Amino acid sequence: MTDRDLAAEVLPGHLRAPERLPGTGRTDLQLYRCTDTVRGVHVVAKVGRGAAAESLETEARALARLAPHPHVLAVSEVGHRRAQGGERVVWLVVEEAGGGSLARRIGAGAPTARAWAAQLAAALDHAHRHGVVHGDVTPPNVLLDDRDAVLLADFGSAHLVHDADTAGRAAGHFGYTPGLAAPERRRLEPPTPESDVYGLASTILMVCGDHHALGAQDRRLLQSCLGDPGRRPGADLLARRLAG
Ligand SMILES: Nc1ncnc2c1ncn2[C@@H]1O[C@H](COP(=O)(O)OP(=O)(O)OP(=O)(O)O)[C@@H](O)[C@H]1O
Ligand SMILES: [Mg+2]
Repeated sequence: MTDRDLAAEVLPGHLRAPERLPGTGRTDLQLYRCTDTVRGVHVVAKVGRGAAAESLETEARALARLAPHPHVLAVSEVGHRRAQGGERVVWLVVEEAGGGSLARRIGAGAPTARAWAAQLAAALDHAHRHGVVHGDVTPPNVLLDDRDAVLLADFGSAHLVHDADTAGRAAGHFGYTPGLAAPERRRLEPPTPESDVYGLASTILMVCGDHHALGAQDRRLLQSCLGDPGRRPGADLLARRLAG
């Protein structure tokens, strides 16, 4: 079965003209840009099987706890079907982020990167207050809307406090991005609010074309997020210090 056939088979009929987006490299996850003919908007449908089906369900549960928030990607639908052959396939429909991801904005100037840091801190503060640890804060997982405002996305590696389904998973189950993850995550410890704060700082410092163009205070603040987990500031403090 081709990917297009898979989309046609599992996605509901009002999601028309699925067009495959360049992949994530995973064979168990496909992304399609579609037209939602009910709401008259473009959306992105993520279709996963196997391990990707499980991470899409985690993502759906996380997003359900967090909606609505101006800096968290909005979800519109989720569902599952048995594909031909009986395999369970999960699909998740999210808003289209017209500005792409921060991975395409490496080299952005300091004022822009600072605004993104503040918006990302606000999104993480909101998530942490709702018992959601993102677990994989990296440039490709931070999207931008049409006005270049941050939309935190890809909660497939999230840890949900008090969630029976995800609580039993071994720490090593949670995905992470080796070059950018906090040292404790690379030792396969489970994601924490502190490891998210590390991800925020490594993401912003990577995107920011010139660290030295950041004010000395901002630079110190972001660098303090890369130190010992117990001494990292919380997302709430970061959001307050970076606002304005
Ligand atoms: N809603 C969206 N709008 C626009 N582009 C998107 C959207 N969702 C995803 N993308 C694009 O697809 C890429 C991968 O998306 P996402 O991070 O959600 O999938 P994935 O779960 O990372 O897969 P992996 O498990 O490999 O990390 C993003 O970096 C972005 O470029
Ligand atoms: Mg991703």
